[in-house]
Amino acid sequence: MRRIECIGILTSGGDAPGMNAAIRAVTRAGIANGFRVMGIYRGYEGLINDEIVEFSTENVSNIIQRGGTILKTARSKEFQTPEGRRKAFENMQARGIDALVVIGGNGSLTGARIFSQEYDIPCIGLPGTIDNDLDGTDLTIGYDTTLNTIMECVDKIRDTATSHERIFFVEVMGRDAGFLAQNSAIAAGAEAAIIPEDSTGADQLEQFVSRGIRKSKSSSIVIVSESPKCGAMYYAERLRKEHPEFDVRVTILGHLQRGGSPSACDRVLASRLGAGAINALLEGQRNVMVGIRNDEIVYVPFSRAVKSDKVLKRELVDVLNILSI
Ligand code: F6P
Repeated sequence: MRRIECIGILTSGGDAPGMNAAIRAVTRAGIANGFRVMGIYRGYEGLINDEIVEFSTENVSNIIQRGGTILKTARSKEFQTPEGRRKAFENMQARGIDALVVIGGNGSLTGARIFSQEYDIPCIGLPGTIDNDLDGTDLTIGYDTTLNTIMECVDKIRDTATSHERIFFVEVMGRDAGFLAQNSAIAAGAEAAIIPEDSTGADQLEQFVSRGIRKSKSSSIVIVSESPKCGAMYYAERLRKEHPEFDVRVTILGHLQRGGSPSACDRVLASRLGAGAINALLEGQRNVMVGIRNDEIVYVPFSRAVKSDKVLKRELVDVLNILSI
């Protein structure tokens, strides 16, 4: 195996609060262990277009508290083609980059897996996504901050919902995963969550209505996972038609969920995982995502991390149902 002297780091896909803390950790742990560190801008696009700058410890000063990613990010179409990946490989060779650390979600780690197999390059992934949908890790970088952001927004919506005695459908992100919806519903004391993982086949709106919108409750909040067809708008329209007696409103939280200063939990997680990425390289690991399980750092093969069927515990559904009576 070729000795690693220089590593490249990039962020890819949707940004997530805590990515900067991870960039800082990888850079500083890398330099502390004798590696040269190259910052690659705009994700895989920057690797293809040679937007690469050598980082010193100063490049990552004063960023742990900042949302977004100083390296910028992109969803690269070109990297999905063999020609794009060839250009990326040639730039890596020209720059002397021996290994890659990729911070991103499902699509980004899938790209890393293909690239590393095609060109035999050690790639280490860090779970960077607000969705928390990567398997093999209890948490992903950005998830906790976003959960808190949603909770704060719903607390505010509750004030006006109560004043007007309304039912609000609040749409949150999560792509195909309901972790944000389910847990923000519990944290904000919402009356229901409508999530993609529901496997009962039951109509989730029907269930919410049939559980009884209590007369003593002056407002109701239903958190809905985003979905191209069945988002908050869809359920609000249905409820208006089926129960014209209710005063219904919709709030779509959108991209504000991805911004903001990372929480302490995300900063610590990103710092541990970033240092973990360097340890993984020193131990000769490749093609793994560094995750956290039961408070221990773990290495998860890419193939497992991106499986996209991370289980959302049924217990969370039961807790919300019981506590929202
Ligand atoms: O994967 C993170 C995420 O924020 C998803 O929750 C959401 O579906 C998607 O990215 C939105 O992507 P974009 O910012 O490209 O519209």
